[in-house]
Amino acid sequence: MDVIRRRQDLRAVAERGRAEGLTVGFVPTMGFFHEGHLSLMRRARSECDLAVVSVFVNPLQFGPTEDLASYPRDLDRDVAMAEAEGIDLVFAPDAEEVYPRGRPEVTVDPGQLGERLEGASRPGHFHGVLTVVANLLNLVGPSMAYFGEKDFQQLVLVRRMALDLSFPVEVVECPTVREPDGLALSSRNVFLSSEERTAALCLSEGLRAAAKRVREGDSWPGPVAAEIADRVHAEPLAELDYVALVDEETFQEVERIERPARALVAARVGRPRLIDNIRLEPS
Ligand code: PAF
Repeated sequence: MDVIRRRQDLRAVAERGRAEGLTVGFVPTMGFFHEGHLSLMRRARSECDLAVVSVFVNPLQFGPTEDLASYPRDLDRDVAMAEAEGIDLVFAPDAEEVYPRGRPEVTVDPGQLGERLEGASRPGHFHGVLTVVANLLNLVGPSMAYFGEKDFQQLVLVRRMALDLSFPVEVVECPTVREPDGLALSSRNVFLSSEERTAALCLSEGLRAAAKRVREGDSWPGPVAAEIADRVHAEPLAELDYVALVDEETFQEVERIERPARALVAARVGRPRLIDNIRLEPS
């Protein structure tokens, strides 16, 4: 497996692969791998000839008070894990390789979709995400790019960017990977104390209770959302940021749950801010 640091080397390898008729699959990450990342890699590995993973903690998507400096990093461990998954190439650039002229002047505007929920709590976040994803897609030139549904708003925005700006890539949605007790895997879980780790289950428990309620026939968003909010409020170590029930296609808040929708929740539990979501399927 190759570890590439320079953008021109990445471009050259990916171009050579495409010229040989190989399908290129791409998994963009910020590193500190867990099973969630590995599941994306396995999917890319099984569907593409040349599987490329990037490891880059993108400063552009962190606000000034956020955890850029303390975001967990361990490149050696990541490289070993990617190699064990049969990945062909890890791109691990410094910021200057991704943004050769410093902070980019031209960025991708996520529009109104990027200003709600995560975007409202983290102003500028999706500008940063879409700008780096566009940049990396242009460097790698994959035919398939793999994103986890845990970051559901990000997934919807990346898909929309690819559509609206005609990126020649298929955005592949991959299921959230959870601990056996339901906690969604996240690199930030490493910051949870054992007490907070238990408290953090209120997110997935609330979501599961909401999905059950919808399956059993409740189509009114109010009580379904309250099911989640009440669970989080009942947990003294958790501080709710938002609960939202949105249409999966439009991402607009739903007035009745009459077709599949998404419940999303964000809460701070101790130091980390956690997000999770679940599909709501009416019976
Ligand atoms: O989901 C992530 O890890 C990041 O937002 C991404 C897509 C790698 C962009 O930095």
